Amino acid sequence: MKTVNIAIDGPSGAGKSSISKKVAADLGFIHVDTGAMYRAIGLYAIRNGCLEPDQIAAVIEDVDVTLRFIGGSQRVMLCGEDVTDHIRTPEVSMAASKVSAVPAVRAHLLDLQKKIAAENDIIMDGRDIGSVVLPHADLKIFLTASAEERASRRYLELREKPDCPPYEDILRDIRQRDENDMHRAIAPLTQAPDAVLVDSTSMGFNEVVDTITAMIRETID
Ligand code: DC
Repeated sequence: MKTVNIAIDGPSGAGKSSISKKVAADLGFIHVDTGAMYRAIGLYAIRNGCLEPDQIAAVIEDVDVTLRFIGGSQRVMLCGEDVTDHIRTPEVSMAASKVSAVPAVRAHLLDLQKKIAAENDIIMDGRDIGSVVLPHADLKIFLTASAEERASRRYLELREKPDCPPYEDILRDIRQRDENDMHRAIAPLTQAPDAVLVDSTSMGFNEVVDTITAMIRETID
């Protein structure tokens, strides 16, 4: 049976995951957050002291990353351990950005990502979904927002927390990750030629959800 595959790519902090999660729940699709898979490998690299490209490439075959979907919600398993709640720190963000530039790491996750898409109606978000993972997706969306807007959304999310970094640090991290993700040699962050651009800089959450839901309905109806 042919499954419906929607690809959503874009830079860090554009809201891909929260938007995809809501749209997927409304449509009864599974939301696959591929960034979480790279984050799990980043966490492995931190824990095992193998952050350098040749170090992580040498052990990648032993790094077992799988996804579970509980009530539509994704859990990431690293060598059998549910690490979903341990992969959102700034340290893991930077490690994920680093390991995701390693070809062996990308190859390791590609088959799993393709398999999930072949078996389920999905919205898959990441950086290279439309360009590499699902080149024949039913619909490709490139969701972006200015770096300043992404940093200020992140700051608003974190500001109640005791260890909230200053806005300037968040902006610097976002710019650094954009730089890493766009300029790596393999599967760089890029808008696929047939992807539709959604710039959410001056849009609210619900407006983006409604826009993307309407685009998907139009595609599958
Ligand atoms: O979307 P995120 O911030 O959780 O992603 C974490 C890192 O993984 C980010 O630096 C980019 C990388 N990534 C990638 O290279 N390819 C993907 N399909 C998804 C994420």
